Amino acid sequence: MKTFNITTLVKEVQPDELDSADRELIEAAKQATARSYAPYSKFHVGAAIRMADGRIVTGSNQENAAYPSGTCAERTAAYWAASQYPDMAMKKIAVAAWTRQGHDDSTPDADCFQAMPISPCGACRQALLEYETLHGPIEVLLYGADKTYVLPSIKSLLPFSFTEF
Ligand code: THU
Repeated sequence: MKTFNITTLVKEVQPDELDSADRELIEAAKQATARSYAPYSKFHVGAAIRMADGRIVTGSNQENAAYPSGTCAERTAAYWAASQYPDMAMKKIAVAAWTRQGHDDSTPDADCFQAMPISPCGACRQALLEYETLHGPIEVLLYGADKTYVLPSIKSLLPFSFTEF
């Protein structure tokens, strides 16, 4: 028998360790949370994608009374980006989220961001991996108020993935 490890390199950073373009991308993800439609979970997620030409495309989670019909911020952003710019690589994605749960009424929404980074669900990883396979690595910035995680690719979030048949 043989065993092997699959490792993921995660950098833990503070905003001042990021360059201004990455800070801008995180800020866009944070601002996108304001356009989230999350009356059911009350968990507001924003995603911002840096496209190869430098533009930023954003998305937010969009929930539905028929719960499974809702979709995550990451897929909203990725599908919007891919449908507008089918031949353009997505270079980087930033994700941020907040909820009022656990905060008192006097706390402004802007101070309710998750302390720890949130990480895309399995379905979003699979969806993003498709575009990464087409156009090359998509770097990942997972924002948390206490720390931000930086990962080199979607693949690093989804090892042993299903990419072709
Ligand atoms: N959600 C996202 O938008 N992105 C994630 O990475 C995790 C979860 C959304 C889905 C749902 O609207 C709410 O957050 C609670 O799960």
